[in-house]
Amino acid sequence: MKTKHTPTFNSLAILGILALSAPWAAGQLPAGASFKMNAGTVENIGQVEIADPGNHSWKLQSTTNFTTWTDVETWKVHNGRFTKSIPRTGAPAGQFFRMVFDPSQQTGTSTVANGLSVPTPLANYANPTLPPSFLQQPILGQDNTPVNNPVTNPAATLGRVLFYDKRLSFNNTVSCASCHQQANGFSDPEQFSVGFNGGLTGRNSMGLANARWYQRVKFFWDERAATLEAQVLQPIQNAVEMGMTLPALETKLAAEPYYQTLFTNAFGTSAVTSDRISKALAQFVRSIVSTQTKFDVGAASGFANFTAEENQGRTIFNTPNQGGCAACHGTDNFVPGGAITNNGLENPYVDKGVGALTGLPQDEGLFKVPSLRNIALTAPYMHDGRFATLEEVVEFYNSGVVAHPNLSGPLRNPGPGPVQPRRLNLTAAQKAALVAFMRTLTDASLSTDVKFSDPFQYGN
Ligand code: HEC
Ligand code: HEC
Repeated sequence: MKTKHTPTFNSLAILGILALSAPWAAGQLPAGASFKMNAGTVENIGQVEIADPGNHSWKLQSTTNFTTWTDVETWKVHNGRFTKSIPRTGAPAGQFFRMVFDPSQQTGTSTVANGLSVPTPLANYANPTLPPSFLQQPILGQDNTPVNNPVTNPAATLGRVLFYDKRLSFNNTVSCASCHQQANGFSDPEQFSVGFNGGLTGRNSMGLANARWYQRVKFFWDERAATLEAQVLQPIQNAVEMGMTLPALETKLAAEPYYQTLFTNAFGTSAVTSDRISKALAQFVRSIVSTQTKFDVGAASGFANFTAEENQGRTIFNTPNQGGCAACHGTDNFVPGGAITNNGLENPYVDKGVGALTGLPQDEGLFKVPSLRNIALTAPYMHDGRFATLEEVVEFYNSGVVAHPNLSGPLRNPGPGPVQPRRLNLTAAQKAALVAFMRTLTDASLSTDVKFSDPFQYGN
């Protein structure tokens, strides 16, 4: 098919490796969009890169005479960006290409098949293989899955797409995954995370591995969300993080054809409601289960797979009058039982944690302990991301715990009188052993497993 060139198009022409700049007004591009054509290789004439938060259709056209332009392909952008190489094979000599954005020709379709990489049959989220300790008390009883929202494969699949979809933010620039990155144990390597409008979060992002097991059920550093279902809707509406309203989000997602399929598969009808968004996101987060660590192999085999140093670290971690860490980072999931604690980071606390919510002095500096699983991947550490490395964390517990009136028992010297923070007096070798032990909690499969990865198709 031939199309005649009209000056309302925005385009860029390339011949071989030669790129010519666009002769048409940049004002014709959709809001926030840009594109470039990169130089070619032996196999490729060039590579087209489109950034388009509005997810429009774009056309690649070619010509040899600058009079008639022929449609080569129509591309639909998914989740903000698209990259594709133009093969050299079959291209006639003297062929030029251009990219065309025409608002009246938004013909690109989006379907589960062309917009997403979702496997058939669906990946298994509902029945992860769990180590024996997760099927017994106390961890069994710490499962916060509510009876009305068990994990199913179709709804967790929907949750995965939502988790990576930047349309959950006001200007389509930030997804949950922007601040909860798979390679980093679903946390953010930055101390504070950048929201949709360039603002910074007030706290360090939290790792999400094994969020499913927490006896107190609550979420966030200060436990202000009563359930995971309540938590997942909060970043969407947070003025710094994603800046959306739930009605606006429902409208936006309902306009996307493949969501109709995904919601129908998950919930029986295509209705996009915030309750379903909440359930699907919570299911996906609960499905992020880490059980494939060196520690898990060890737990099943008397830790014969551990080095001497790792076993020394394990003993220090578990023994009350050595590291004493297990008093708060307990069980094979490394979270406290019924308690929320203060670990003496400072006095007074700049960020008062639970105390900022209740206004009560006895709640100052109380913070949730996220699971230590994947802790080597989730730096920096603590609610304010103050420690860059595990070595700094260990040195803090060894010599730096501060006398705060709310300092929890396991970190104090026993006895009456003023609060005396405990000093561990560990040797350099003991400190290194404690770090080596925490590194056995890393689950490499979790940070690479495709079923937890970005499902959008971005070209090739
Ligand atoms: C701009 C960064 C940002 C975005 C976007 C974001 N988060 Fe977070 N997330 C954080 C920060 C920071 C915290 C800790 C905040 C606090 O405690 O006050 C957090 C905490 C959480 C927690 C609590 C974990 C726990 O153990 O208590 C969950 C779950 C979570 N986020 C899931 C999500 C989901 C799902 C989305 C998308 C709907 C999302 N986040 C979007 C930064 C972000
Ligand atoms: C009294 C309870 C308690 C004890 C004992 C304890 N911790 Fe913690 N731990 C906490 C709390 C509470 C936090 C979160 C504090 C905050 O961010 O304000 C935390 C946070 C951490 C973190 C950072 C988690 C993250 O995701 O950023 C690491 C790592 C850690 N502790 C390791 C240890 C080690 C190692 C020991 C033993 C030497 C230990 N803890 C002993 C309560 C405790």
